Amino acid sequence: MTQTVQRPPAEVLYADELARLDAADTHPRPPGWRLSLPAVRTFLVGDPTRDIRPKFVGDPALVERAMVSLATERGLLLVGEPGTAKSMLSELLAAAISGDSSLVVQGGAATGEEQIKYSWNYAMLLNRGPTPEALVPAPMYTGMATGRLVRFEEITRCPSEVQDALLSILSDKVLAVPELAGEHALLRARPGFNVIATANTRDRGVNEMSAALKRRFNFETVHPIADFATELALVERQSARMLAASGVPAAVPVDVLEVLVRTFRDLRGTEAGSAMDRLSSVMSTAEAVSVAHAAGLRAHYLRDDVASGADIVDCLAGAAVKDDAEDLKRVRRYLEQKVKGRTGAWRAMYDARHRLGG
Ligand SMILES: Nc1ncnc2c1ncn2[C@@H]1O[C@H](COP(=O)(O)OP(=O)(O)OP(=O)(O)O)[C@@H](O)[C@H]1O
Ligand SMILES: [Mg+2]
Repeated sequence: MTQTVQRPPAEVLYADELARLDAADTHPRPPGWRLSLPAVRTFLVGDPTRDIRPKFVGDPALVERAMVSLATERGLLLVGEPGTAKSMLSELLAAAISGDSSLVVQGGAATGEEQIKYSWNYAMLLNRGPTPEALVPAPMYTGMATGRLVRFEEITRCPSEVQDALLSILSDKVLAVPELAGEHALLRARPGFNVIATANTRDRGVNEMSAALKRRFNFETVHPIADFATELALVERQSARMLAASGVPAAVPVDVLEVLVRTFRDLRGTEAGSAMDRLSSVMSTAEAVSVAHAAGLRAHYLRDDVASGADIVDCLAGAAVKDDAEDLKRVRRYLEQKVKGRTGAWRAMYDARHRLGG
């Protein structure tokens, strides 16, 4: 694979899989869709017999409901805890359905209508007045004009006026351009256009969305991965891929990964019988992958070795616990009370506990 950028978009990274799915796709496709629903589902959940890599780990029924929403006139809102693959799901869906995951609006306190709809090339505007050529399309405009999915990340972080601006786009599928005359004053969306939004339950609430906007979306909650073996397999697969891309030849040994994933689950408080007080930091699967990646890098580039339990401790503080002193103490307590006396990779972790500070 000739990757010359750090993170190619999904439609480039998986171009070969998408081309093969397209060629073999015999099912009907909704208007404006590049692939049928079964083909999109296979792309997301994988199929070893056809050499399609698994990407989203979770309930295939969720993927089906998400696709059905996108084929209706309602938008799709993926809600959940941080690091549960909401953004990843939206990127993969856009890549498979529209062949393009790049139409993205990043929601935030400063997001304005011009980042969503369109703005102007001011030199041209001053020279010739408002003409279609002077209009600079933003993702929503492009998505409507070309019949593609538009991703709206962290929609609940946008000011409410901006959220309101979406109402007519979502319900009537038209975007008014009052500055232009005639046929250019109204853009009508082509088939295939829709919006996939994401919202994080730890941010400003979904509850604060207006009732009118809520009604224009179907909500789908994305849950953290439920069982240990599945989470371990995902962390193993993704960290190995990221390490390879970072030029590290050896993956993190599986016994070290087991200890890492178990630690995350204990600290998250999801494992039965774990009486740990929960951390305020999010110990998500995404964070576990990033700790495994950092630990492997550290071991290789600092010592020319493979990662050990001690590397996990070193990477935990920065990657997962961040800057909360209380969290650091909780992790330390976990190591001192629960990990003490265990063998193997646990032992290396226990012995490195002083490296946490706190
Ligand atoms: N169910 C899952 N399937 C596949 N990957 C997952 C899953 N859960 C977590 N991950 C990991 O998390 C990463 C995706 O995190 P992503 O940024 O999409 O999460 P998010 O839900 O958008 O988080 P945030 O709310 O912080 O924006 C993936 O790259 C993968 O490593
Ligand atoms: Mg996200």
